[in-house]
Amino acid sequence: MAVRLLVNVDHVAALRNARKTAYPDPVFAAQICQQAGADGITVHLRRDRGHLRDRDVQRLKACLDIALHLEITAHDEMLRMAVAARPAMITLVPERRAERPADGGLDVRRLNVRGQRVVLANAIAMAKKKGIKTSLFISPDKRAIELCAQLGAAQIELHTGAYCEDPSLLQLQRLRNAAEHAHRLGLTVAAGHRLTRQNVVAVAAIRHIDELNIGHAVITDAVMMGLQRSVKAFRNAIDCGVRERTLRAVS
Ligand code: PXP
Repeated sequence: MAVRLLVNVDHVAALRNARKTAYPDPVFAAQICQQAGADGITVHLRRDRGHLRDRDVQRLKACLDIALHLEITAHDEMLRMAVAARPAMITLVPERRAERPADGGLDVRRLNVRGQRVVLANAIAMAKKKGIKTSLFISPDKRAIELCAQLGAAQIELHTGAYCEDPSLLQLQRLRNAAEHAHRLGLTVAAGHRLTRQNVVAVAAIRHIDELNIGHAVITDAVMMGLQRSVKAFRNAIDCGVRERTLRAVS
């Protein structure tokens, strides 16, 4: 069984926004990922639009043939925007550090029963009505997984931060147990956060993990693997200018 790879292109947008330029274009990056065999593109649409902008999401939806996956917080405005974009899937994530448990993801166990859990359940139901699959980003915790199933989520995404920090058998077993438990409850299972080419192998080997969301390490590798080509191309461009200078001097 193949494990789907969804590439998160937020870091390309962050690089663009840092200079307030039009490049690098996260949509063009997404097209390259599609061409290279990615199964989907993930973007985190933040409330402050710190990385991706609404227009980027519309362009992604218009030009991609592969799945578009939006990560958002369960706020009304974000939900309306996400549902209108008609992605294949929405993952509900925490935005502020205070909303996260020590090992990451949404702290579904700590959400108060009448208020915050109802907000999540309503968000999931609203997306479902529009035919959009919903996933919740949580730590590999049995009780949290059960709550996700009760809230009506179709999928969970296991936060792999603790395993990546400490790639021990114990942490790997936590992920294995969580994937097994979620599968037993009828949930599909994704995983992500801080995965690299090295540590992803053991995670991809876990039964019932169907999908991986990877961003930072893909973009990091793209920089390191592409840097030599980039410098050579600049050398070439500069040498063209120097030749032009020489030609002008003799004419
Ligand atoms: N999954 C989710 C829900 C995320 O929010 C992120 C970004 O932190 C990732 C996966 C990808 O993490 P990374 O950029 O470390 O690969």
